[in-house]
Amino acid sequence: MKNPINQKEPNFQIDIEPIGKRVYAEPGETLLDAAQNAGIDIISLCGGAGICNSCKVRIIDGRVSEVTRNERTAFTPEEIASGFRLACKATILSNVKIDIPPESLSTPQRLQLEGQEFKAGLEFGKECVIRYYDLELNEPSLTSLESDLSRIKSALEKKGLMEVHCRFEILKNLSDLLRTQRWKVRTVIRYLLDDQHGEVVAVLPVGTPLYGLAVDVGTTKLAAYLVDLDTHDIVEKIGEMNPQIAFGEDVISRIAYCNEHSGGRDVLQKKLVSTINLMIEKMIKKRGIKLERIVECVVVGNTVMHHLFAGIPVKQLGLIPFVPAIADEMNIRACDICINIAKASYVYMPPNIAGYVGADHVSMVMSTRIHEKEGIHLAIDIGTNTEISLAAYGKLICCSCASGPAFEGAHIHHGMRAAAGAIERVKILNGEIRIATIGEKPAIGICGSGIIDAVAELYKEKIIDYRGVFVKKEFLIGIGTKHEGYELVSADFSGNGKSLIVTRNDINEIQLAKAAIRTGIDLLLQETGITYDKIDKFIIAGAFGSYINIRSAIIIGMFPPLPIDRFHQVGNAAGMGAVELLLSLKMRKLTTSFSRRMTYIELTTCPEFQQKFISAMYFPKVVDR
Ligand code: FES
Repeated sequence: MKNPINQKEPNFQIDIEPIGKRVYAEPGETLLDAAQNAGIDIISLCGGAGICNSCKVRIIDGRVSEVTRNERTAFTPEEIASGFRLACKATILSNVKIDIPPESLSTPQRLQLEGQEFKAGLEFGKECVIRYYDLELNEPSLTSLESDLSRIKSALEKKGLMEVHCRFEILKNLSDLLRTQRWKVRTVIRYLLDDQHGEVVAVLPVGTPLYGLAVDVGTTKLAAYLVDLDTHDIVEKIGEMNPQIAFGEDVISRIAYCNEHSGGRDVLQKKLVSTINLMIEKMIKKRGIKLERIVECVVVGNTVMHHLFAGIPVKQLGLIPFVPAIADEMNIRACDICINIAKASYVYMPPNIAGYVGADHVSMVMSTRIHEKEGIHLAIDIGTNTEISLAAYGKLICCSCASGPAFEGAHIHHGMRAAAGAIERVKILNGEIRIATIGEKPAIGICGSGIIDAVAELYKEKIIDYRGVFVKKEFLIGIGTKHEGYELVSADFSGNGKSLIVTRNDINEIQLAKAAIRTGIDLLLQETGITYDKIDKFIIAGAFGSYINIRSAIIIGMFPPLPIDRFHQVGNAAGMGAVELLLSLKMRKLTTSFSRRMTYIELTTCPEFQQKFISAMYFPKVVDR
């Protein structure tokens, strides 16, 4: 068995996005060698001959060898200028940060798209934001000289719409369309206020099916849903990594990027929008439909993502007191931010609550309905930033905690995001370690749910104590070195020939993250004078939350020790909320109304914050072992 401690310390550090994995390479190694040695499956159809172009990567930072002739053939000059290289041809010359596009990976990162779907129960024409009318218009003649648009307005007036505006973009093709369709058209109206006021956002041939788009913009991941506006079914869904990861792993570093680079905000906005457009393209291609049939869009995201999507300044979000530029709901013309859907359509963005509680959390609250339920409900969305809302006695209070990127595998010695080969489950039974990996691939690292399990098991087995200190040293390897830790997988059995360990520092990272979350929960409870045992329903939303082992989260003290049946893992509730907001005008109005009564608590201003945080760093003394 290889001893990881005696392995030669490699020379260069390679940070691989979007997987979030750090690997090491010898000088002279290619990027392909380094990635594959670390168990990352970059596609290399020609085996590194430089002729298949399947191993494309983008250099974000650092130096590699000169561009080769093969690469000049593989890429346009613009692509080369923006850092694209063939991983098999680029030799590493310094520490490097690279981005692997999804098409170059044979096993993409796991992205949570599912959530508990609702059935809105709306009838087309009632409560829907988008409604259509199939109109049969009179042809103009020398005795009927009304303009084309007036004909449509008069026909709509007869159907009860007293005030209808028409977007300029519609007029560009309207006259031709009316004539080719022999004066029978489907007129698509967007309602914002009531049943009598609307805006024409598309005029299409009669019978054209209509679609809407809902997008959840996470700091790490994007989820998009294509919805049939007639049946209200999600007909396609797709997940991608947020391309802004290449500019910083969390919202703070993205704000810093915007502050430090002139035009930085523009770069981040364009990256995000072009990825969303690609997602749209993939979905409509699969579905066989045209862009102009997507007539409405809803985008939710945390406040920083919300602002970056809309192209709004984010500088103030990084400065005390962290206020958003806008908290109200927004209706932006899709063409103003270059989202490729019907030209005259709109993007609706729900309200933000505060600098670190954004429209995605509002969407999650709406979707889980905690604002209207009886009893005491707590809803939490865990990410690099964790938002929590507590609904009790008619009050709705929320907070945000800086849980950091440890649950994404960052700052964990062998951490990685939830991709194939990541350890996602750990169990220690009678001294025997059992692990489960994503995709049942050989282990190459540990993702968030895996590290929570590992820490909980180490504590349960009394290998670490309540402070997180290793107390049974006989179970450790590499004692006294910087690689001292508990070995989950030996080098012989891992997918990258390296021993995969949990270090004291990893445990500390998890303690910091879980303490941030638990402090948030406890301070919200304290604010309403409720003890945790009174919580009727504890809702865990979000991609990461879907995979957490709740018992492990209780053991380490991240969640209070409630009976398991009070916990509900609901998946991407923010995404499901966005779908509902896409359809229902009533839900948009309700969301605006409850968001106005949501009280935001800035945790750092609570006098007990520091003390509670320090206490929450420890593991609970009473454990159901
Ligand atoms: S592996 Fe074929 S071009 Fe790199």
